[in-house]
Amino acid sequence: MIEVNQALEFHIKNSKVSYIFRVMEKTGILEHLYFGAAIASEKSYLYLVERELRTGNNLLTGDYTSSLEHIKQEFPVYGTTDFRYPAISVKYPAGDTISHFRYQSHRIIAGKEKISGLPQTFGKKENCETLIVQLQDQYSKLVLELFYTIFTDSASIIRSAQIKNNGSETFQIEQLASASFDLPDNDYELVHLTGAWARETHIERKQLFTGRQEISSTRGASSHIHNPFMALCRPNTTELLGEVYGFSLIYSGNFSAQVEVDTYHVSRCQIGINPFQFQWQLAPGTSFHSPEAVLTFTKKGLNGMSQNFHDLFRNHLINQKWVKKERPILVNNWEATYFDFTEEKILRLAQSAKECGIEMLVLDDGWFKGRNNDETSLGNWQVDEKKIPNGLPNLSEKIHQVGLKFGLWFEPEMISSDTPLFQKNPEYRLGQSQKNISHGRNQYVLDFSNPEVVETIFQQMAAILSTVEIEYVKWDMNRYISEAYSSFLSKEQQGEVFHRYILGVYNLYEKILTKFPDLLIESCAGGGGRFDPGLLYYAPQTWASDDTDAVERLKIQSGASMVYPLSTIGGHISAVPNHQVGRTTTLKMRGDVALFSTFGYELDLNQLNAAEKQEIAQQIQTYHKYSSLIQTGDFYQLACETNQVAWLVVSKNKQEALVGFYQILAQPNQPYVRLKLTGLAKDTSYQVNGEKLRTSSSLENIGLILNENYTDRTKEYWTRQQQHDFSSRIFHLQQMQPE
Ligand code: GLA
Repeated sequence: MIEVNQALEFHIKNSKVSYIFRVMEKTGILEHLYFGAAIASEKSYLYLVERELRTGNNLLTGDYTSSLEHIKQEFPVYGTTDFRYPAISVKYPAGDTISHFRYQSHRIIAGKEKISGLPQTFGKKENCETLIVQLQDQYSKLVLELFYTIFTDSASIIRSAQIKNNGSETFQIEQLASASFDLPDNDYELVHLTGAWARETHIERKQLFTGRQEISSTRGASSHIHNPFMALCRPNTTELLGEVYGFSLIYSGNFSAQVEVDTYHVSRCQIGINPFQFQWQLAPGTSFHSPEAVLTFTKKGLNGMSQNFHDLFRNHLINQKWVKKERPILVNNWEATYFDFTEEKILRLAQSAKECGIEMLVLDDGWFKGRNNDETSLGNWQVDEKKIPNGLPNLSEKIHQVGLKFGLWFEPEMISSDTPLFQKNPEYRLGQSQKNISHGRNQYVLDFSNPEVVETIFQQMAAILSTVEIEYVKWDMNRYISEAYSSFLSKEQQGEVFHRYILGVYNLYEKILTKFPDLLIESCAGGGGRFDPGLLYYAPQTWASDDTDAVERLKIQSGASMVYPLSTIGGHISAVPNHQVGRTTTLKMRGDVALFSTFGYELDLNQLNAAEKQEIAQQIQTYHKYSSLIQTGDFYQLACETNQVAWLVVSKNKQEALVGFYQILAQPNQPYVRLKLTGLAKDTSYQVNGEKLRTSSSLENIGLILNENYTDRTKEYWTRQQQHDFSSRIFHLQQMQPE
């Protein structure tokens, strides 16, 4: 899959994509040549080199074509005649930031090496290859290594960079992107996900302009505002057609994803740790490895990109133990009780849950000492005996006796000022103690850059997890870091706080999962404030949003599914009127929206009448029928309009498919609606909802007919089924041989 020729031209390829770059003869700098659909191997790629005679600063004396400003690069630096944004910036002891990384050597290995301390893709010797290009700084003993992995089964290239200090002085890294390359033109639109608390992952699409455009986080988490993802698509790109480049970062902290369009229409694409508030002291003998970036390409439109990401994450990122395993259907007590619960109330909820067919009860926030509101007790992970007088082991036992699994909420990274831990170790809190330290939801952030803090929290959590039968943990994180200062780190290392913090989070995940390998963790950050591939490596599902309204969820889940598989998107059915927007949607629509996610409930089942409970029992049966298809199939966004949304999942073997169609408001005298399907098997037929047999060509070219046919039934005008707001329909397709 990885080819190199005598002229040091590298071609990384499989049947889907090609990625080509070369070493420039005179400077030893890497020149980017191509990334896109697979092209045939050739003896030489020199024809891809473009050099215009342009005015500019030239790197080499007497050479007028060595202006790096005009050369498409693979890992640009400042101080070599490139005026665009660099991928790496190092501050040298003299105070300058001028580097020149020159090709030194390369190696190709079967499989891929493990990066210590970071979440990452995995592959075997049989299914992936890695190219490691080593570059030597001309001015110091810094060595830069660029990693490129390609899998046999994915249209993606995984990139990362490592810098090693082989010298005897300390260097300061000011920036290290995970990937950078220059596309030859700018005729693209930038697609990304944006939002805020309770309205995460909304899709935005805008034309590129000349200059820098950036999506980023400076908040210590990947954030509700942006997601560590961007795509560039041709302006006419649809869901199913058009060239798309997708970029994703396997990281949960401050990130930056940017495109810089220069005056010659070259588009520099970059993704990595955000250089904002970042500086790393690279001591002699140490190295620094960037998180991994995923670069993907398709000609099959935005959905083609989504499927590339979904398959890569399912096959090479998410713990394989969970990928295909049916996740337990849970009821979470948060919206049912908030902080106001007793053991008895929880057990009654468990009883009703069991009667409906729910499989797990998750006890959310409020179970630990003194936690009756959000002003107190974080960091004191001991049961509140006032609420749970017989203790957690006993509660869990009773819940298991009812026949349910048990899950528990933690917010491990936070501290409240009234806890013994804070009183004893105020320096465990992030922030500069001589200056103001802001609260967020009345709480402070623990200094996870300090391993002692991580260990303390690990011990507290482990004490509970080893004495209570717990199958699931909801790991929450409810505020951002606003004063990144650690009293544990030296003054020179303060620029390392954000990154070290997130490494501490990963370390705690690693420790917990090593000790409790069967634990299912759902990550959460005030909803989807940290919905990123970094956490998916540890926690196979993420609570997508605190907004549980079915209409809002259509937007949120449509956006999240652009990058993340449905099996990772946490979605629950909650009570009406909805607690976030006050809207009353039908139970059917709430169920049909949650069906396309990790299904669960978040309401007081004891407030429901018999018919509603019956409907829930029915929903659960439906979910069991389709959960494997939803978890493992190919997802398509069929429609994403203001009033109508449609989702489709087709099983990998194309034997079955599931369509969810949602109409938000009813329309008088409704126009005709046809829903064209895609991705079905060719030349065959499908039975739709166990009844009508339709050919796959008819389903793909004509579509599902959503209006009624009243021929010869005109008398039914007054009695016909009335339309209503918030309606949804589910169609299950089963492949059959034509009669
Ligand atoms: C966050 C989560 C909610 C809930 C509360 C508890 O907001 O996103 O689901 O767990 O915290 O405080």
